[in-house]
Amino acid sequence: MNTENQSKKIILSGIQASGDLTIGHYAGAMKNWVQLQDDYECFFMVADMHAITTKQIPADLRRRSIDVVAMYAACGINTEQSTLFIQSHVQEHAQLAWVLNCFTGFGEAQRMTQFKDKSQQHSENVNVGLFSYPVLMAADILLYQADLVPVGDDQKQHIELTRNLAERFNHLYSPTFIIPEPFIAKEGARIMSLQEPKKKMSKSDPNQNSCIFLHDSDAVIRNKIKRAVTDSGTDIIYDIETRPGISNLMSLHHIATGKSMQAISDEFNGRGYAPFKEAVAESVAELISPIRSRFEELRSHPDELSALLKTGADKAKRQAFKTLRKVYKKIGFVEPS
Ligand code: TYM
Repeated sequence: MNTENQSKKIILSGIQASGDLTIGHYAGAMKNWVQLQDDYECFFMVADMHAITTKQIPADLRRRSIDVVAMYAACGINTEQSTLFIQSHVQEHAQLAWVLNCFTGFGEAQRMTQFKDKSQQHSENVNVGLFSYPVLMAADILLYQADLVPVGDDQKQHIELTRNLAERFNHLYSPTFIIPEPFIAKEGARIMSLQEPKKKMSKSDPNQNSCIFLHDSDAVIRNKIKRAVTDSGTDIIYDIETRPGISNLMSLHHIATGKSMQAISDEFNGRGYAPFKEAVAESVAELISPIRSRFEELRSHPDELSALLKTGADKAKRQAFKTLRKVYKKIGFVEPS
């Protein structure tokens, strides 16, 4: 670590390797990572350990873990500057998670709304890992002494739990963990399904038209946006309560062009849905097209990605080990001789 990095505040964030990435991941996470990366020392991980809380086919998990890293770089993460790594390459994540499990109340974990949602979605496989998943996420964050965690809106409750666990531990022992702050952008923190705009856009939605993937072709993107569900009436005004479909398309246009909601409304209101949808389709295709080509280029050099991940894991490990050693000492574990 150079001296410049030591004075920078720290970011840790990650994405599960459980499916192909969508424009929701871009809007809620990667876009903000790219914007923040020069001002922070950043650790971006591929959450493969989180992914196995739902059933995974081993070959797919292996491929997707590398896809996610390539996608980070394709979206604009500077791989020379930020540390990219795979969660399971740094064993301290599992080790700290175990310790934190012993400081988490059962009721506290039970209140996590994502656990409730996921246990309904995967009712055939409600496992203990799914239940304690937010504790592993807390370990991810606290190991790196992260100051800031840029995420989408759905992760807010997990960061609240992380803060509570860190405060509890610091209070019981002595200051050990930095208390992290969430970074949730005002716009794009919750991109909704194109088919059911009251539901979050999700890679696991069985209806593929509900979701724009970062590998979708221009034609597929245009088609999905053309078929997106809109609201009754013709107004192009941002109001997620009464106009969820149009508001979601406005968010996508904002993410792709940087135009404010007011500017979008001024430009398109009164002209009907068709020209607006066409403009959204064009802007989203223009955003994704270069990401897709960079992704394909990066993915065709797996050795370079492996080398990057090796350097990343070594660096992440140094930081994680420092924190875990402190924790082990404080709770009374005997240091190995
Ligand atoms: P995951 O893998 O579900 O999503 C990764 C990130 O993308 C955001 N996101 C969205 N944002 C806006 N609209 C959407 N439709 C949308 N879909 C996904 C998520 O909010 C998230 O920021 N538990 C985490 C992964 C994780 C993590 C961590 C994150 C594991 N350890 C430590 C931060 C720090 C998760 O399942 O995200």
